[in-house]
Amino acid sequence: MNKHRPIGFFDSGLGGISILRETFARLPGEDYLYFGDSLNAPYGVRSVEEVTTLTCDAVDKLVEQGCKAIVLACNTATAAAADLLRKRYPEIPIIGTEPALEPAVQRHPGGRILVLATAMTLKEQKFLDLWEQYRHEAEIVPIPCSGLMEFVEQGILRGEELESFLMEKLMPYMKVSVDAVVLGCTHYPFLRGVIRRLVGRSPEILDSAEGVARHLHKRLLQTSLLNDRENGGTVTFQNSLDGPEILELSKKLLQYEEDAE
Ligand code: DGL
Repeated sequence: MNKHRPIGFFDSGLGGISILRETFARLPGEDYLYFGDSLNAPYGVRSVEEVTTLTCDAVDKLVEQGCKAIVLACNTATAAAADLLRKRYPEIPIIGTEPALEPAVQRHPGGRILVLATAMTLKEQKFLDLWEQYRHEAEIVPIPCSGLMEFVEQGILRGEELESFLMEKLMPYMKVSVDAVVLGCTHYPFLRGVIRRLVGRSPEILDSAEGVARHLHKRLLQTSLLNDRENGGTVTFQNSLDGPEILELSKKLLQYEEDAE
């Protein structure tokens, strides 16, 4: 395998760009090929079989295009298809994404931790195992947020409609104090500003981007696939939705600066 080949990124839509941003900042000499399946999004309300098929088809295409490693920049796709893809492509590092529960529990032992994710992520075995592992160390409160990723897909990152949607989801859980909020869907970091306003100043808000970027870096080193260029990497976006708008929005999200917290 040639270390000058691109790294493939996959998400059900544009959420994985939150992981790509962090990865590009850490590994700016790599080339990236990002495929978002916005046409078939949301994945979080589909069956496991459907998500597995869609994810495997998308990853097959990234591998056909010569990707040396794959990042499943989607918690839902990881829960459904990571194990299968690792068997299908044993020679290619396949990096998955999972809710950042481990760092949340480490930083807030005994705390109350909200986990925002898709309905599917929260139902799947990967999350149930994580929950089982940490449930004695903190109070873990899963909150399925069906309907939330659609705002990001439309480029809506603030505003009244989004705030009242989120308010309805979060307020029932805010009566007792919260120590941390885990963003267990890769779309949600783009909504961090709104989420911060609703949960107040004190809870820590954690996402998976840094953990995934670090893990990818480590795997590239271990497999001698790290590009030796220090800078000058490129990002190419592909999407199952036709039309230039979705690619424009993808580029905008890559440049997105979070609202000051
Ligand atoms: N971005 C995705 C995740 O991390 C899923 C959004 C969806 O398609 O429902 O789970």
